[in-house]
Amino acid sequence: MRVLVTGGAGYIGSHAVLSLLGAGHDVLIVDSFATSSPRVIKRLEALSGRVLHVIERDVRDYEAMRGVMASWVPEAVIHFAGLKSVAESVADPALYYDVNVGGTVSLLRAMAEIDCSKIVFSSSATVYGTPEYLPYDEAHPTNPVNPYGRTKLVVEQLLGDWIGAREGRAVTALRYFNPVGAHPSGEIGEDPSGVPNNLMPYIAQVAVGRRPHLTIFGDDYETRDGTGERDYIHVMDLAEAHVAALMHLATGERMQIFNVGTGQGITVREMVRAFEETAGVRVPTEIAARRAGDLPRFFADAARARDMLGWMPSRDLHDMCLDAWGWQSRNPGGYDAQEDAA
Ligand code: UD1
Repeated sequence: MRVLVTGGAGYIGSHAVLSLLGAGHDVLIVDSFATSSPRVIKRLEALSGRVLHVIERDVRDYEAMRGVMASWVPEAVIHFAGLKSVAESVADPALYYDVNVGGTVSLLRAMAEIDCSKIVFSSSATVYGTPEYLPYDEAHPTNPVNPYGRTKLVVEQLLGDWIGAREGRAVTALRYFNPVGAHPSGEIGEDPSGVPNNLMPYIAQVAVGRRPHLTIFGDDYETRDGTGERDYIHVMDLAEAHVAALMHLATGERMQIFNVGTGQGITVREMVRAFEETAGVRVPTEIAARRAGDLPRFFADAARARDMLGWMPSRDLHDMCLDAWGWQSRNPGGYDAQEDAA
């Protein structure tokens, strides 16, 4: 299939591009490189043995997106481009609505110009909010507790309206749990700018000596060991879920929503221990107060994706740690530091 991938240079997008190419799809990446490195592209080309089609554009630029649609004429779009820091979304909600919602509006309008009717959207488990029950299934009420989560829910609602407006449209929204790890080559991975907000990149940066210790945000939760429990999913499993979602779009003209997680909760301490054992490196920790807005625990009911997409995660906690460490140890300073030194 001819697929336009927005945000294809980002963490999840770059891994999905590899899986899409591996499955024989034709890919055009549209990325503004606002939160990703152009150096990802060379790595992807080396890994795939293909010359990639890449256009540097912001999805909010409607005229540019019209031009991209008219020249590339994709059969489907996978929409990763967006911002994902909860703290930043609280500090600047208008920015988050502009990029995440406005970007999708511009993209959908440009798609309509060429009658492109299929889209896979990067949503988040954050749309559920405080659990009324666990595991979350897709029917769990949605009540996101921060602006970032609300932008994801607004886009899901927009997509629900969008399919109803013209015959033949199909949407698959994937609600990601906690993506971690990297491609097993260690050539691409997660490269957050500044201090990482998320657990795995923080652990990896401590392990490689970039930061002195991991701060554990709270050890007094009602979980097995008092630390927060999450459903971590290997980014290559998540990437493969997009290939399955793309194929699924052909099966119906409607909106489908899937949780993408493993269904298994891992605590912060368990993650630290697994990483230390896998990498053979000590990760010093310090306990601090709970982080505002954090939930004690959540994990997915992933049965729907298994039953309807035929997709199942195949990598375990060891693979997640091994591949996160492989990426970080080969690229201690991330993409840009590595290339500048070369
Ligand atoms: C966070 C976002 C979520 C977003 C996701 C993107 C919040 C409240 N939620 O999810 O909306 O979709 O990132 O990937 O920010 N932890 C530490 N020390 C750290 C970092 C994290 O102890 O330095 C703990 C957290 O308290 C939590 C667990 O590790 O218990 C996972 O945290 P994180 O990786 O930030 O993911 P979420 O908070 O689940």
